[in-house]
This record gives sequence, C-alpha cells and structure tokens, in this order.
Amino acid sequence: MLSPEVTPFKKVGGLGDAVSALSKYLATRGHDVRILMPKYSDMHDFDDVEPLEGPLIVRLGGQEAYSRLWRKNLPGSFADCYFIEHNQYFGASDPYLGPSGKEGDNGERFTFFSRASIDFCEHIDWIPDIVHCHDWTCALTPVYLNTTETNRPMGRVASVFSIHNLEHQGRFHKSLLSFSGLPELTFRTDGLESMGDLNMLKGALYHSTKISTVSPTYAEEIQTIEGGHGLHQVLQFRASDLTGVLNGVDLEEWNPLKDPDIPQFFGVDDMAGKVLAKSALQEAYGLEVDPKIPLFTVVSRFAGQKGLDLLASIGDRLMTEMRIQVAILGSGDVSLEESFQRLNSSYPLGFGSYIGFKNELAHLTIAGGDCFIMPSRFEPCGLAQMYAMIYGSVPLVRATGGLVDTVKQFQEGRGIGTGFLFDAPTGEALYETISRACATYYNSFVEFEQLQKNGMLGDYSWDASALKYEEIYTSAIEARSDTPF
Ligand code: ADP
Ligand code: GLC
Repeated sequence: MLSPEVTPFKKVGGLGDAVSALSKYLATRGHDVRILMPKYSDMHDFDDVEPLEGPLIVRLGGQEAYSRLWRKNLPGSFADCYFIEHNQYFGASDPYLGPSGKEGDNGERFTFFSRASIDFCEHIDWIPDIVHCHDWTCALTPVYLNTTETNRPMGRVASVFSIHNLEHQGRFHKSLLSFSGLPELTFRTDGLESMGDLNMLKGALYHSTKISTVSPTYAEEIQTIEGGHGLHQVLQFRASDLTGVLNGVDLEEWNPLKDPDIPQFFGVDDMAGKVLAKSALQEAYGLEVDPKIPLFTVVSRFAGQKGLDLLASIGDRLMTEMRIQVAILGSGDVSLEESFQRLNSSYPLGFGSYIGFKNELAHLTIAGGDCFIMPSRFEPCGLAQMYAMIYGSVPLVRATGGLVDTVKQFQEGRGIGTGFLFDAPTGEALYETISRACATYYNSFVEFEQLQKNGMLGDYSWDASALKYEEIYTSAIEARSDTPF
C-alpha cells in the first residue's frame, strides 16, 4: 500500500482512515500487507519505531537522494507500516505542502515518493504481488512499473490504483519528466500529458493494471463530463478495468460500545450514553445544555467539495427561524472559518464552532449530535456519514457519490430509511431538509428514533468490500501475467 496518509500516524481526512482500515482487514485475512508512507515532522504514535538498515538511495534528476527507513507495526493489526524519511521533501507537518511551503514543489516530492516505493521494495528484498496506490501522490509508481522497471525485479508486479478523490490530480510543468527519469514516450495524450502539463493521476489511469474508486455511484459519476474533472474519457476508456468498492469502517476506532472519547459507552439497546454525549458536546461548544433541542453537527475539511458554504448561507435563518443548535468542527477555507466564527459570536448558545483538527472532539461531535450534515457537492465515498449512523446521528446529505450508496432516504410513516437526502446544491434545499428533520424530531420522535436505530444497525464493516478488493487483486495478477513485455 502506498499512501501519503495512514491513520493513526498521519490523517488529513478519510484517506488515512480508509488505507489503514483496509490494510488491517486484509492482514487479518492472511495477506502480507506492508504500507509505505512518508515520515513527516509531526506524527502520531511514532514511538518505538525500528530503524532499517540503510540508507535507501533514490536516483532522480541526475542525483542521488539518501533517505532513512523506519518500520512499525500498524497498531492493532498484523500489517507493517514503513516510513521514508527525507527531510527536504517531507520534513514539514502537512503531507500536501512540504518544507518549502510551495505547492509547485509537490511534483518533485511525490515523484520521489513514487520512485522510492519501487527502490524500497528492492531494498528490503520483498517483491509483492500487488502495489496498491492511493490517489495522485503515488500515481507515478504504475508508470515506472510499466517502463523503467520492465527488465528489473519489480517489472512483473501488478498495480491497482484507487481514486479517493479525482479533483486532485498532481498537475505539474512538463520539466518534471526529465527529473523523474521516465522515458519521453510516457509523455503523450494516452499517458502523462494533459494540455501540455504532466498529469500524474492521468498517467496512473493509463498505466495501472486495474483501477478502483471508493463507491459504485462515484465510479459512474467520474465517467461523465460533469463528474470527471477532465478525465471522464480516460475513465470511459478503462471502464472494464474500473470498479467502485465502498469503503468500510474500522469498527475498533469508531464504535460507541468502546469509544474512549465519549463520556459513557452506548449502543442501540441502551442509549443513555448518547444523552450524556449530547450534553458534553453542548458544553464543549458553549451551547445551551438542553437534551430537547435538536443538535445538528458537522465534522469536515472546509473544502469546496464539502458544500459547507450552503450551510453558512442559511446560518442566520436557521438560528432565527428554527429551534435547533449547530456545532461545527473543521478547518480549511478561511472565509468559511470566518463565517462560522461570526455565527458563533452572533448566536453563542445556538451555533458552536471549533476551528481546527481534533480527533477526540470529532468523536464526541459525531456521537453527541442528533443529526449530521454533509451537503457535499461531490463525495467519492464519505466516511463521516457512516460514523454518524453508527453513533445514532441521523445524516442529512446531498445525493451524490458514496452518500447515495450509504444513506437510505427516510420514508415518513413507514419506518424505512437511515437519513435525509436532497438533490439541489442550494442553501434552500439544505434549509428544507433541515426543517424536515426538525419536524420529525419535534412531531414524531418515535419515527426519529427508528431512523437512528436503522442507521445503527447497518453493516459498515470491511467484510464485503475487502472481498471485492481480493477479487480485483486476483484479476490484476492474472492480467499482469498475461501482459507481453
Ligand atoms: P474526506 O476524506 O473527504 O475529508 P471523509 O468523510 O471520508 O471525508 O473523512 C473525513 C474524516 O476526517 C473523518 O474521519 C472525520 O472525522 C475527519 N475529520 C475531518 N475534519 C476533522 C477535524 N477538523 N478534526 C478531526 N477530524 C476531522
Ligand atoms: C477522499 C474523499 C472521501 C473518501 C475518502 C476515503 O478524501 O473525499 O469521500 O471517503 O477519500 O476514501
């Protein structure tokens, strides 16, 4: 597994959770799973790492880059995580912004990561059956495997490329090609070239043995002009090798029956702990502590994808026209941070906001809310809405991507559904959905409880999805062994 984020060591969003949980699950099923990620300046759980014999020497741009390697067991699993330390590239805390602070330098940083991933396998004398690459930062690995490596030890290794988010593609100036050491022939329309630039992800879409993405609906959406971020034709071309596999949840981490970050454990048969979590949450955000007011929460990156501007645009109306509370945890877009802080100052007892990244507070915010809002413009899978359902927090989501595949529309009077879905990406549609949820809460609490229970009883495990990955791996190995070189 190659990933720029792996929970618990480094997490920016769901990518870290997904890679970690899939690796754990596959290792439990007997696979020899080894993860490689960069070592950043600040990491979680990085004690007791074991140094590997080194250094690892990576040749790029006519120079030799020396790096150190470390290893540690992925906590709670049979999988191993390896860390590559190269401070010039990864000596900052943010995976997506190196020490220079310039996004333009990401081209070299992640070319290094991709190249190093292959040299690393040779260095530890371990030739895997599959290299599973997650998102654009390791997208050059399949391109190397198909070109520079063909007569080398890694040349027969099959690659699977998983798209967690097609918006980020790793586009850089063409000059990166000579730094990478990849042959000129890779820089073509059916390869790395995209409107004169070098597009790492596009290269992976052509060069990977198989491609997956993180939900069936997103697999369809990315083959359309509206959802393809400019790459829909490539994805149509590779449609027979593309599968949408829904992410599962790490139920050791996200489980109200054993979560250390909530005041008291709870489950579908005993919801007393949920009531305590709600008051703890209200206290944490400085809201009026009252179990009867419906509390809507958000835990999210503030990125355009997440559609939180819709919520900001109706914040005043929600606070003046409805009897509800809102608690938001997140950071990112500065104008959204300011909007939520302004709402917090205007309505301190009704609208809470915490700007920052805090894992324990994320658990409490998801556990203690009655409803969870995710108005995403697009959402490849989305894990937060699944976490919400597990904790009996009813999701309000826009009908897109993995949100469609995981949340079932509530049908009033029939006891069916797990949440509320809406279509239009507008503040008005979100407002109407919040009032619908609010009406169910105030006028038909028994139905609201049914919704909570339906969500809590869902299957969010990796059981089915890990089997699908095994199928993808098997077909990738077969396809690779049939490839003439
Ligand atoms: P994405 O990967 O697009 O950010 P997901 O729903 O897949 O969306 O995953 C988001 C993950 O990041 C969840 O585990 C969520 O709890 C976590 N998260 C997002 N923002 C924060 C934050 N400010 N503090 C703590 N955890 C956060
Ligand atoms: C990305 C997507 C999110 C998905 C996560 C894990 O960050 O935005 O929808 O859940 O990856 O696959």
